[in-house]
Amino acid sequence: MSGKVYIVGAGPGNFELLTLKAYRILNEADVILYDRLVGEEIEEFLRSLKGKEVIYVGKERGERGEKRQQEINRLMKKYATEGKVVVRLKGGDPGVFGRLAEEMEFLFNNNIPFEVVPGVSSVNAAPVSSNIPLTHPEAGFGFLVVSGRDTVRLNELIGSGTMIVLMGGCTAKEVALNLIKSGINPETEVAVIERGSFKDQRVTFSTVKSLTEVEFDFKSPALIVIGDIVKLAKKYSRLIGLDKIRDRKI
Ligand SMILES: C[S@@+](CC[C@H](N)C(=O)[O-])C[C@H]1O[C@@H](n2cnc3c(N)ncnc32)[C@H](O)[C@@H]1O
Repeated sequence: MSGKVYIVGAGPGNFELLTLKAYRILNEADVILYDRLVGEEIEEFLRSLKGKEVIYVGKERGERGEKRQQEINRLMKKYATEGKVVVRLKGGDPGVFGRLAEEMEFLFNNNIPFEVVPGVSSVNAAPVSSNIPLTHPEAGFGFLVVSGRDTVRLNELIGSGTMIVLMGGCTAKEVALNLIKSGINPETEVAVIERGSFKDQRVTFSTVKSLTEVEFDFKSPALIVIGDIVKLAKKYSRLIGLDKIRDRKI
């Protein structure tokens, strides 16, 4: 007998940003396989659920993703073939840099029924909870979401919209250098949001040029918003709380 796997987005880390559907399915599950990015509040909630197997399957720093993915696939298959309801819980939305395609392909090839449950992505949650709209009639007609792990390819995507770089906290300097090489105005505004939506969220305002010159040590998870739209957030920034913002333009 085959059970079912739910691939569920947990949102950006704030417990109240977990969807009602995710909450219901987590309560109904037999087994929960969760990632590091789900954050402490949600992890605490998972640990409080009774009568379930709750298994951490997050990648450790420096660990190769493929090996970990094989182990996750093995666990999903094992429990589903035992007839269990399995939740594969991921940070943010599973469709945004979340290996969703790989996991669906694996489940499909193994005839395991599955359903995907979207989550609130850090793409919108971190900027919007820092007073940064993603679109604006004058300051940004659209936005791009890219990976900071592929800094050289950024030039394929540069335009006049807002750019959101995920996984760029540790590569921020490289991202900025490549953007300048690709022709972006070095004075373009930047906001780096660490732990967006968590209680200790922090926003650093800067420019592309300053990112290349100041040594920052951003706490994970962090994402970078690049574009004129960041100016708006500065105007409202004191509402976030002064202890939670830094203005580092040099
Ligand atoms: C592998 S990607 C997964 C993205 C996730 N699926 C989503 O929709 O948010 C991980 C990156 O998402 C960003 N991220 C996730 N949660 C965040 C948060 N609470 N605050 C800021 N950035 C976050 C960081 O850039 C991090 O390196």
